[in-house]
Amino acid sequence: MHELDHYIYPHRVLHWLVAGGVLLALASGFTFGTLGYEGTVELFGNTLTNLLYTSHKTLGITLLLLMTLRIITRIAFVVPDHDPPLNAFERIVSTSVHHLLYLALIIMPLLGWAATATGGYPIEFFHWHLPGLLGERPALSSQLYTWHGRIGWAIVVLTTLHVAGALFHWRIKRDTVTKRMSLFD
Ligand code: HEM
Ligand code: HEM
Repeated sequence: MHELDHYIYPHRVLHWLVAGGVLLALASGFTFGTLGYEGTVELFGNTLTNLLYTSHKTLGITLLLLMTLRIITRIAFVVPDHDPPLNAFERIVSTSVHHLLYLALIIMPLLGWAATATGGYPIEFFHWHLPGLLGERPALSSQLYTWHGRIGWAIVVLTTLHVAGALFHWRIKRDTVTKRMSLFD
């Protein structure tokens, strides 16, 4: 193990679990965000549509839990130094994108939760129903869904920049940046 040139192992595992989960949440979210509930039922049928909504909510809340753990492992443990050091541009851009991703991935599930609860729908987490915590307010719910969609697009843009940065370090600069998050080397 080379602990000093990697993030600690649990943090790396969380990175990849969140990365996979976010892609699934975006794919399912944009599917029924674009088609609407009726359109999704028409295409997939009732059972599959309900399963898709329940899975999206369950996945979103799981991501909220994983992000909470991830913030803890990020703050509580040493972050490896960049070797060679990043230049000022790389440092500012990557840190901004990372912080915005953290922020967006905390806000996103909370917005989904609040939009669902104020819409009068159940907060499904596996086979449990979590408390909505907010009363039914349809007008507020539709505004919150709009923001859920907008932040969804922001996550798409941020992730694209992030992956482009990772590819740049991996294939073009060929430095040690991608190794910091790797599970295997
Ligand atoms: C990181 C977590 C999450 C991501 C990335 C995500 C992503 C998305 C996206 C991209 C959409 C499509 C929005 C649109 O096009 O208007 C969507 C829709 C939706 N999301 Fe999420 N979501 C997350 C968490 C949650 C949570 C925790 C809940 C509820 C507990 C939730 C409930 C919903 C519902 C009900 C819709 C459908 C809205 C509609 O029918 O227009 N989401 N989600
Ligand atoms: C194929 C997809 C991805 C690749 C190749 C990748 C690669 C990396 C690499 C190499 C690092 C280390 C950067 C450094 O040491 O400063 C990193 C960090 C990070 N990644 Fe990714 N990543 C991917 C997807 C994602 C996704 C989908 C998210 C979130 C939505 C994400 C969020 C982050 C964040 C916030 C950091 C900062 C370090 C931390 O505190 O966790 N990554 N990523």
